[in-house]
Amino acid sequence: MAFASRFGDLFEAAEKARENAHVPYSNFKVGAALLTEGGDVIAACNVENAAYPQAQCAEASAIGSMVAKHGATRIVEALVIGGEAGDGMLCSPCGGCRQRLREFASLETPVHICGPEGLRKTMTVDELLPLSFGPDNLDT
Ligand code: THU
Repeated sequence: MAFASRFGDLFEAAEKARENAHVPYSNFKVGAALLTEGGDVIAACNVENAAYPQAQCAEASAIGSMVAKHGATRIVEALVIGGEAGDGMLCSPCGGCRQRLREFASLETPVHICGPEGLRKTMTVDELLPLSFGPDNLDT
C-alpha cells in the first residue's frame, strides 16, 4: 500500500454513521466511510424511501458528502459495514456503487468489506469492477 491505512478511523466513522441509517423498509443498516487523498474521513449511511427505488446506498451518500461538503474527488481507501455479526455474508458494494467508487478511486484502491465485528474481506476497486468503464474512456 502506497499510503498509511486508516482502517480503524474508517471503521469507527462508518459504525457511527450506520447507527443513523434510515431503513424502515429493509431494516438493513449500512455504513460507509471514505478516506480522501487530503486525509479526511467521510462517513454516511443508507437512506431509504417509501418509494423503494429511491433508496440511497451508504456509499452513494458518502460520495455525495465527500464532493459537496469537502470538495474532494479522490478516494484512497474505502470501507463498508453491513449485516449481522457472524452472519458469514459479504456486504459488498452493489453494482451501481462499484461504479460510483471507481469514478473517484484508482483501480488499486482497497475497499474493506466489514461486518459489525470487523473486517471480512478487502478487495481492490479493480477486483470489484473488472474491465471497468471510467473517466479515461472519455476524452475530457
Ligand atoms: N445497501 C447499501 O447501502 N450499500 C450496499 O453496498 C448494499 C446495499 C443498502 C441499500 C438498501 O437500503 C439496503 O442496503 C438493502 O438493500
